[in-house]
Amino acid sequence: MSPNRRRPLVGGNWKMHFVRDDAQRFCETFLAGGALPADVVLFPSFPLLATVAAALEGSEVGLGGQDIHPDEKGAHTGDVSGLQLVDSGCTWVLCGHSERRQDHDESDDLVRQKAVAALRYGLTPLICVGETQAERQAGRTFEVLERQLRAALTAGPATFTLAYEPIWAIGTGETATPEIAQEAHAFLRGLLVEMLDENAAEAKRILYGGSVNPQNAAELISKPDLDGFLVGGASLDPEKFLAIIRSCGSDS
Ligand code: 13P
Repeated sequence: MSPNRRRPLVGGNWKMHFVRDDAQRFCETFLAGGALPADVVLFPSFPLLATVAAALEGSEVGLGGQDIHPDEKGAHTGDVSGLQLVDSGCTWVLCGHSERRQDHDESDDLVRQKAVAALRYGLTPLICVGETQAERQAGRTFEVLERQLRAALTAGPATFTLAYEPIWAIGTGETATPEIAQEAHAFLRGLLVEMLDENAAEAKRILYGGSVNPQNAAELISKPDLDGFLVGGASLDPEKFLAIIRSCGSDS
């Protein structure tokens, strides 16, 4: 790892998996893994936040929610606010994950409102962007990424982190090649240079997500604009998750 490289960040997005016992066991095994060469954040589903917050206490592992409602409180059945996330021990939140965009029809503008709400509560939004298979095949990848990023970032140039998650690679076992991922990450960083400034863009961590596993992580992280991962399936197994995180420290 070159001395100037951004410190890697690895998120574990547990999606709608685990009950409290699983979460507790995961944390025990994971925390026994010792010092790690990356920052780590776990994104459990809402009913697990209290358990995971307690299990992670005193550790350096961060905690995040998988979604946020733009409002602080009110008649929004099934939703969770930034105030509630902070109260549950979160410092991060996912905004615009493709499963939210697809399953819940979340628009680019709603993603922006969520990022704004996150910042209001001091939560770091991890903004997810990515194209579908059809959009890639139609040569529209960059257009989609630019639209999603510009919409989200009218939230302001404050603290945020970005994840590139090509939808065709999520949960499919079909990872983007390191070259494809690097091309998208470099494109996103170029946009950040334009939208923020050179220094801020260089400091931003851009994570890759989509079928990351202990076998493909080292080659992906060797690419200059990949600064870590947002891991789904493999983040449910503490040993696999640890192996992915450790691969961020190798010089491969
Ligand atoms: P998988 O790692 O299961 O492909 O999921 C990626 C993802 O959606 C992380 O947010």
